[in-house]
Amino acid sequence: MSALGHHMVDKHGRRMRKLRISLLDACNLRCLYCMPERPVFTPQKDWASAKDLMHITSNLVALGIEEIRLTGGEPLLRRDFVEIVDELSTLPVKKLGLTTNALLLAPYLSLLQHTKLQQLNISLDSLDAENFKRITRRDAFSTVMDAILTAKILGFTVKINTVVMKGVNDHELPAFVAWSAMHDIPVRFLEVMNIGVMKSQFQGRFLSAFDMKAMLKVDYQFSRLNDTSDSTSRNFRVSNGAEIGFIASESNPFCTGCSRLRLTPKGQIRPCLFMQEGIDLKSLAPEDYPEALATIIAMKPIGRIPHQPQPMYQIGG
Ligand code: 5AD
Ligand code: SF4
Repeated sequence: MSALGHHMVDKHGRRMRKLRISLLDACNLRCLYCMPERPVFTPQKDWASAKDLMHITSNLVALGIEEIRLTGGEPLLRRDFVEIVDELSTLPVKKLGLTTNALLLAPYLSLLQHTKLQQLNISLDSLDAENFKRITRRDAFSTVMDAILTAKILGFTVKINTVVMKGVNDHELPAFVAWSAMHDIPVRFLEVMNIGVMKSQFQGRFLSAFDMKAMLKVDYQFSRLNDTSDSTSRNFRVSNGAEIGFIASESNPFCTGCSRLRLTPKGQIRPCLFMQEGIDLKSLAPEDYPEALATIIAMKPIGRIPHQPQPMYQIGG
């Protein structure tokens, strides 16, 4: 651990080394499990600016943050996205990643190739254009699929995130495993979380990671891969060559290994996806960061908190 790293360790020994920055809460899809048809978004004037983000992240990196992931809503909707990435690329971080729905990704790829941002986690909940439309409420499957395959060809590290819902896309699990092997792209299956708009329909739609794996075991064998201690997914090599992961946020929360802090679109640091309390870091002087961080890190729960009334898109997926 670096001399400064101790600012980031909580009383349970968890060291905060990852930061998820939600750049905005708006999105150009309307995924059933994430958003209502007419969501209310944070006005643009309230977003942390590119300058604010650089101030905040450079201070957090100086105190021990090693990996940064940009999330949303949909991060590529920010007009200053490339400016933000260019600036963050100057920081001494090990990894800079993006979580995106890939609808606007293709035109950005050549610009991003020369930045530090090489890890693309792309949301894809169906391999079927009609089902994709049903889930996302937008007709965008081929645009998204083209961008995914182009990103892979260009050499980005691409991973797919698939939120699995019973009766919606669970029948596509075997197709995803075949697709993963064919394109050499890892797919992580996510349990749908009981958060935001899911609260009213959770019981009917939830499928556990255990049940997903049981469905796949009919056709495939799995061997466990070595995951890092703060990994949110349990990863496997499948007998057809695919790399598959399961993110069991509901049935097997990963809080004990948590190494993350979150930044909201307004520039507030939060201890946990499931907490609404936070501290605005935009106008905080560098010398005040250690104390603010100590306060936030001390608030981190050790186990899953059952209630989060605020929807996922407002906090950052
Ligand atoms: N359950 C699981 N994941 C969710 N996301 C949004 N809402 C939910 C939910 N209810 C995540 C998805 C998506 C990312 C942007 O947010 O993983 O890929
Ligand atoms: Fe947008 Fe992602 Fe939410 Fe879908 S899940 S509506 S792509 S933020």
